[in-house]
Amino acid sequence: MKRITLKAYAKINLGLAVLGRRRDGYHELRTVFQTISLADRVEVRLSPGSRAVHLETTGLAIPGERNLAAAAAEAALEELGLRAKVTVLLDKRIPPGSGLGGASSDAAAVLRGVLWLAGRASGRTFGGTLGRTLPGERLLRLAAKLGSDVPFFLYGGRAIGLGRGEEVYPLPEEPRRHCVLFFPGKGMDTAEAFRSLRRPRLTPQTAGPTIGWIDRINLFSSAVSRSAEGARLENDFEPSVFRKFPELAQAKKILRRAGAEAASLSGSGTAVYGLFRDSAKARRAAQQLRGRGEQVLLARTVSRREFEAQFRA
Ligand code: C5P
Repeated sequence: MKRITLKAYAKINLGLAVLGRRRDGYHELRTVFQTISLADRVEVRLSPGSRAVHLETTGLAIPGERNLAAAAAEAALEELGLRAKVTVLLDKRIPPGSGLGGASSDAAAVLRGVLWLAGRASGRTFGGTLGRTLPGERLLRLAAKLGSDVPFFLYGGRAIGLGRGEEVYPLPEEPRRHCVLFFPGKGMDTAEAFRSLRRPRLTPQTAGPTIGWIDRINLFSSAVSRSAEGARLENDFEPSVFRKFPELAQAKKILRRAGAEAASLSGSGTAVYGLFRDSAKARRAAQQLRGRGEQVLLARTVSRREFEAQFRA
């Protein structure tokens, strides 16, 4: 039996524009993803035998019947044509329904974990970013099938997300920032969040296509480096999600007042984050938020290099 333990990092969205509904039912997005140090722990075990997937979870309760981590293990075995048993031990620490990408990150960690173990099991090397047992393109396609955010978690660090979020372009690393996370306790279903977007609220289609977005993407990305820009970070989900959870608007205000360079809803919610250059300021902001929501967590941004380091062990 072979095993690997991975950190499935959470993400935040540095700006999120929803351009409108597409023919396939998904919404066209423009965003910048950034991994942070809050992480689930994912242990993947691979043993010989007939094809089977077994999942055990500890930590936070996971709602819903279909777990994306198990689906990822099945998809990886299928794609590799591997007859083996995969056991996934998932220690859940990223609040489900928070918009921090926990389920997607778990799925990506399982994909990479299975590939890593399968690569070694068959005596092949596996050291590349996306693995040598499966061409990167096939792995990305597999990830996108599991969920729109899964491809990003194959890269980590900071990256542009286009399309339904699955089209990912890595961005250069930025200096580390401290992150304060506020989670009200109740999660948000992604599909429901998209449904409750009001048309006039959406960023108009005419604001695209790509070249016009380069400016906004630069703006999103530099928001953490220049505090004046941080105030202009926009997430199209905020109006509808803040209406449902008024404490989030309050939390965002508190974070800004406490000196956050950027503060925003992450994804479709319900977590709000603030990014700080100064760790003492971040701690003070967290202190001010305690008692207003179920969870207030401190984290920091995680670069692609750090993200990748766990595969070099
Ligand atoms: O891709 P994923 O399974 O994470 O998406 C969950 C749901 O969120 C989709 O079924 C869809 O209703 C909605 N969604 C969307 N547009 C996106 C991403 C997700 O409408 N870009």
